[in-house]
Amino acid sequence: MEDFCYFEGWVRDNLKIDLASYKSKQMQRRILSKMNSAGASCLKEYAQLIGSDERIRHEFINHITINVTEFFRNRNMFDSFAGEFKKMKARHRKGAALRIWSAACSNGSEPYSVAIMLRDSGFTNYEITATDIDEQMLQKAREGSYREMELKGLTEAQIQSHFTREGSGYRIRSEYQNGLKFKKHDLILDPFPNGFDIILCRNVLIYFNEDVKNRIFQQFYQSLNPEGILFIGATETIYNFSSLGFGKLSTCIYTKN
Ligand SMILES: C[S@@+](CC[C@H](N)C(=O)[O-])C[C@H]1O[C@@H](n2cnc3c(N)ncnc32)[C@H](O)[C@@H]1O
Repeated sequence: MEDFCYFEGWVRDNLKIDLASYKSKQMQRRILSKMNSAGASCLKEYAQLIGSDERIRHEFINHITINVTEFFRNRNMFDSFAGEFKKMKARHRKGAALRIWSAACSNGSEPYSVAIMLRDSGFTNYEITATDIDEQMLQKAREGSYREMELKGLTEAQIQSHFTREGSGYRIRSEYQNGLKFKKHDLILDPFPNGFDIILCRNVLIYFNEDVKNRIFQQFYQSLNPEGILFIGATETIYNFSSLGFGKLSTCIYTKN
């Protein structure tokens, strides 16, 4: 236990990641398995390795941040989201761009899915800010290049119309990169930006402890414009949504009352 306190402090000071905000048992299991595979005999030695070896550092960050993602993840949830977007579009004031935040966006599959959904419905007046804690994932997202297996949520026809062939993989067409900015943002340690009509934050809060999760929902509430939408992961629920000020639109979609 003492070792974990030391390790958490070291990671916070040196990598600016707050491990104490993640679910502790799950996180400790993940750290120990990575420590063993790096060949370290204790957490102090593992911290030294992370500090001195860039490859081990990246492996550690990738492992604890859990980057699994896919285009149009949980397609039926995305369809409900598309339905809510249509209603929002109908009442959106002309002129102002619709502001969207894809928080914890991993390799960009999620914000690009949103851009595809918007452009396919003929809507181009939007700005998407896509953020993640993991700089390596953000770099990949900015490039927009994907291996075939990373496009598994898409049909052949969608791949043909949204991507261009690039070597053995694919690159997202440049129009989907218009209006999309990738930035580093830590949901635990950084202040939240404001003024969004839509926030997506899917499949990351499940790794955080209850207090942190609750604080983040409160911060999302502040970040949203009135009647804005919060879209969360298929396995996630906001139990106390009404006391936070949200209304529930469907299984994973809430609105700022
Ligand atoms: C499982 S992926 C989810 C990606 C996407 N939202 C989806 O649902 O497919 C979780 C993402 O959360 C990011 N993440 C983990 N901790 C974070 C934090 N404290 N702040 C911001 N992003 C974080 C990881 O780097 C990873 O890219």
